[in-house]
Amino acid sequence: MAEVKTIAIVTSGNDAPGMNSAIRAVTRSAIYNGLRVKAVYRGYKGLIDGEIVEFKTQNVSNIIQQGGTILKSSPSKDFRSEEGRKKAFENIQKEEIDAVIVIGGDGTIHGARIFAQEYDIPCIAIPATIDNNLCGTDTTIGYDTALNTIMQCVDKIRDTATSHERLFFVEVMGDDAGFLALNGAIASGCEDAIIPSVPTDVNKLATLIESGFRKTKGSSIVLVAASEDSGGALYYADEVKKAHPNIDVRISILGHLQRGGHPTAHDRIIASRMGAASIVALMKGLRNVMIGIDNDEIVYVPFSRAVRENRQIDHNLLDILHNSAI
Ligand code: F6P
Repeated sequence: MAEVKTIAIVTSGNDAPGMNSAIRAVTRSAIYNGLRVKAVYRGYKGLIDGEIVEFKTQNVSNIIQQGGTILKSSPSKDFRSEEGRKKAFENIQKEEIDAVIVIGGDGTIHGARIFAQEYDIPCIAIPATIDNNLCGTDTTIGYDTALNTIMQCVDKIRDTATSHERLFFVEVMGDDAGFLALNGAIASGCEDAIIPSVPTDVNKLATLIESGFRKTKGSSIVLVAASEDSGGALYYADEVKKAHPNIDVRISILGHLQRGGHPTAHDRIIASRMGAASIVALMKGLRNVMIGIDNDEIVYVPFSRAVRENRQIDHNLLDILHNSAI
């Protein structure tokens, strides 16, 4: 493999808190190791449009704590076409870029995988998504921050739910994986979580909630993973209202606030570790792998494995949630 002298950094897909910490770590580690850094603005679209500027250490000063991505992100329909990827590769050659580090979620890694199959350019991915749905890594950058945001919001909702003795369905993000809903529910002591991979019977849910009301609790909170198929919090609230008109039901959709905010210490640390590891990977001659953390050790996960299948939830966690909500 040709010697790597210049790398490009791209953030693509949906933003996640901690992406900036990763951009900083990649930039600083690369420069420390004598490499040049080119930053690409607006994701894969910027690679096609040639929105590429050189980064020095000062370009990443004061960003470790900032949410979002200073490089911006944008969906790119064009990168899905062969013609778009050809243009991206032409810009890579023009800018004398020898390797690409992409920071993002499953769509981003999927794009990098196709690109790396078509063109002779080493690509390394850093997993950053609040959904935590990539295989081969214990966690993704942004997940911990989003989980903490959900917990803080639910703590606040609980104050008013308790005062008014209401049932709340709180809708959270997380895609089909359901990690945010399940672990968010455990962290905030919710009565239940509705996640796409586990079928939920509305009647069973309402009975569980009603018996909770009757016993000791005057209120209940159920987290619902946003899903086009299930209809989300609104669907469950309507169904419970129909079947149990005596229950005072409300919904709250947390929405995009879950993607913002200062990254937690945990996300900043894993972003720093993964960013540094991406440069180590390149220097070891690795290519087309995602950096992962497995049992607190850095691991290199082939793209094919990272995006292979939907990461499964641990069903023991559902038991923990239900058993602690009695
Ligand atoms: O990838 C994170 C995520 O929050 C998903 O859980 C959600 O489905 C999606 O982004 C929503 O993205 P947007 O509304 O910004 O397109």
